[in-house]
Amino acid sequence: PAPPARPGNAATAWAALREEAMGCTRCPLYLDATQTVFGEGPLDAPLVFIGEQPGDQEDLAGRPFVGPAGQLFDRALEEAGIDRGRAYVTNAVKHFKHERRGKRRIHQTPETPEINACRWWLTQEIDLLRPRLVVALGATAARALLGKAVTIGKTRGSPIALESGAEGWVTVHPSFLLRLPDPARKAEERARFVEELRTIGERAK
Ligand code: URA
Repeated sequence: PAPPARPGNAATAWAALREEAMGCTRCPLYLDATQTVFGEGPLDAPLVFIGEQPGDQEDLAGRPFVGPAGQLFDRALEEAGIDRGRAYVTNAVKHFKHERRGKRRIHQTPETPEINACRWWLTQEIDLLRPRLVVALGATAARALLGKAVTIGKTRGSPIALESGAEGWVTVHPSFLLRLPDPARKAEERARFVEELRTIGERAK
């Protein structure tokens, strides 16, 4: 059954939620990050993508998926026939977790307590948008979406019924593709990612 109609004005509710998230202190990650990077995209998007957390460039820009992983993601979406402008893109964790090495800020994978603390926002984003499909990019996003740890290899490729009424999908994170050292494997994995996105995009139509 379809979830009940959302009361009030979605744009107003989303703006208030985002504003509240800007001051989030639900876990210590806000202390070292530049800003909260909230989700963005049309509130009537049929498709929501969840990443892991903002990276260095996202932390500075205040927008999700604008750095190297975002560029790979953009190209893959385009090849799969998905218009990013019609999707809502967010992250499981909304502050950049990192370690300083001199001037460089090195990404650190968020841990379960941080993911759980930040689900407060993700759940509300999904409840507000009520998308048809929600796609978790990588293990952190999958944990946030499903509330438990899953193996990407075993979970990808078929839809999952979510409590929200949406259809859930799990696939790899674009950074996983960026990091693959072997060009042949990289091309293969990238093609698989694009094919999964194509299937997802078709179902969101
Ligand atoms: N990786 C993510 O998971 N999210 C971003 O916003 C950028 C990189």
